[in-house]
Amino acid sequence: MNRMELLKYDIIIIGSGIAGFKAAIHASQASKDLKIAVISKLHAMRSHSVSAEGGVSAVLYGKERNDSYDLHAYDTIKGSDYLADQDAVEILVKNAPQEIAFFDHIGVPWNRDEKGIVMQRPFGGMTIPRTVFAADETGFFMMRALYDETKSLGNVDIFHEHFVTTLLMKNKEFAGAYAINLADGSEKIFEAKACIIATGGFARIYGFTTTAHSSTGDGTALAYNAGASLKDMEFVQFHPTGLVPNGILITEAARGEGGYLRNAKGRRFMEDYAKAKMELAPRDIISRAIITEIEKGNGIKHGESDMEHVQLDLTHLDPKKLDERLPMVKDIAMKTIGVDPGKEPLPVRPAAHFTMGGINSDNEGRVLDGAEKAMRGLWTAGEAGCVSVHGANRLGSNSLSECAVWGRIAGEEAAKYAKTQRFADEKILSQLISDEEGRLKSILEKSGDVNPYELKEQLNRVMDTYFYVYRSTGKMKKGIAQLAKIKKQFYSVRVEDKGRIYNTNFRDVLELGNMICLADIVAQCAANRKESRGAHAMLEYTKRDDKKWLKHTIAFKSGDSTQLSYSQVRITRWKPQERKY
Ligand code: FUM
Repeated sequence: MNRMELLKYDIIIIGSGIAGFKAAIHASQASKDLKIAVISKLHAMRSHSVSAEGGVSAVLYGKERNDSYDLHAYDTIKGSDYLADQDAVEILVKNAPQEIAFFDHIGVPWNRDEKGIVMQRPFGGMTIPRTVFAADETGFFMMRALYDETKSLGNVDIFHEHFVTTLLMKNKEFAGAYAINLADGSEKIFEAKACIIATGGFARIYGFTTTAHSSTGDGTALAYNAGASLKDMEFVQFHPTGLVPNGILITEAARGEGGYLRNAKGRRFMEDYAKAKMELAPRDIISRAIITEIEKGNGIKHGESDMEHVQLDLTHLDPKKLDERLPMVKDIAMKTIGVDPGKEPLPVRPAAHFTMGGINSDNEGRVLDGAEKAMRGLWTAGEAGCVSVHGANRLGSNSLSECAVWGRIAGEEAAKYAKTQRFADEKILSQLISDEEGRLKSILEKSGDVNPYELKEQLNRVMDTYFYVYRSTGKMKKGIAQLAKIKKQFYSVRVEDKGRIYNTNFRDVLELGNMICLADIVAQCAANRKESRGAHAMLEYTKRDDKKWLKHTIAFKSGDSTQLSYSQVRITRWKPQERKY
């Protein structure tokens, strides 16, 4: 007999990365009367934010450092290939500085100079050094401080290792969430007035990726299935320096601190692609350049994996700099591939890193439906959402700023809302709960012959092959056909483990379902966009086409299929121009 527990919270937050914890803290500060739950499928401190490396962008000491909000906004918008909503970008840049102070106050050890002034390092696409950092373990320090702060609040409970399987929706209004406690397989129903989805991105639909195995986009899929629209899903960022062969992130800070990219001939090839910015051009431009070099025959074959790559050369850097500013780069390279970056260049190639697309939201973080109307009781923040400040290509270090800024906004807005609402009618909930019980039971009891791990490998291969840095109509057509087969096979997937205690096999199958759903949407959105913009580079349509394609892709569920529509980009002060770096 299943044990089911019914819990009541004013606000639940799904996801425990930087955005999730920030939302919890600000909702809690808005009112100590609110009961708040943070629900994480992992131990909360293992959220992917913990592995953010290079830093967080904000305008500090504007006059002294010749920086301004306008300049940060301009860099971000130009970096986005003009697909970002410009009013949202202004919210980002104007609020980011207070977040640096917030984290300082809760104990993040920002790197400082000998006078105690917070340091900022150069990052790609930024006109001046604007990235605040804590060595190359910025995310870890931010998460540690947030976790301690959240634990001290008194009105926030953290549920570790609870996997949310569905949002309980009364028409299009949020009423609660259904979760499985992984430790013992028991079910928990979180009845709540408001929900903030902060589950991060879904780059694990790719095989070669810098992201954690947990980056499966569960919250994005939950929102989609609950009637939310997803925005700009075709834009998946490939970070230029994924370590070969494992894909682990070698931070952009390595180039910010002076690293070079070289091809097989030892040449700094970025000279041919972004003469002024070189290795500090935006990621879309560098990733395209690396693949072009490889296709021109200027790549190097990696012995063990056969992967073609270029080199990240840090051998000319002062060893002290490597030890003090990039300790993790050294550690990762030495421990995982046995290379000391102070002595030998590192093999790198573009790896799926970040999903610019996500749950469509307005500037307050409210989740929007297919008609772009706000859904009652639902918010999103961080990489799970698409507000959109990154458009077609995010600048490095803008994501942590986004998590901090929209974590705060969503937390405060959800708190305002929850204070005025009642819980949903229990009768409606009980029907929704029994529907979900039935759905989960049918998945758990499946006795098909498809191995979910093999199916996941197939999915990763399809995404790596057909939806990578350069896309083409023909390749994507093939990819879509293979995804259709994968979708079909998923119906016959077998859950081997029928037990309840830490049934990670069952969880993996649920995650796989979410990934297949999202990969299919990425593919459809990508196949429809006939231009090259930011992270979506097409072989046949090599240029950005503002006349036809300066618009957001909106994807939403219609019956069993996905419907696409398009919506206007909010251009305020920065007219689209040709990008030159
Ligand atoms: O390269 C990095 O450190 C990644 C930073 C980011 O994605 O913002």
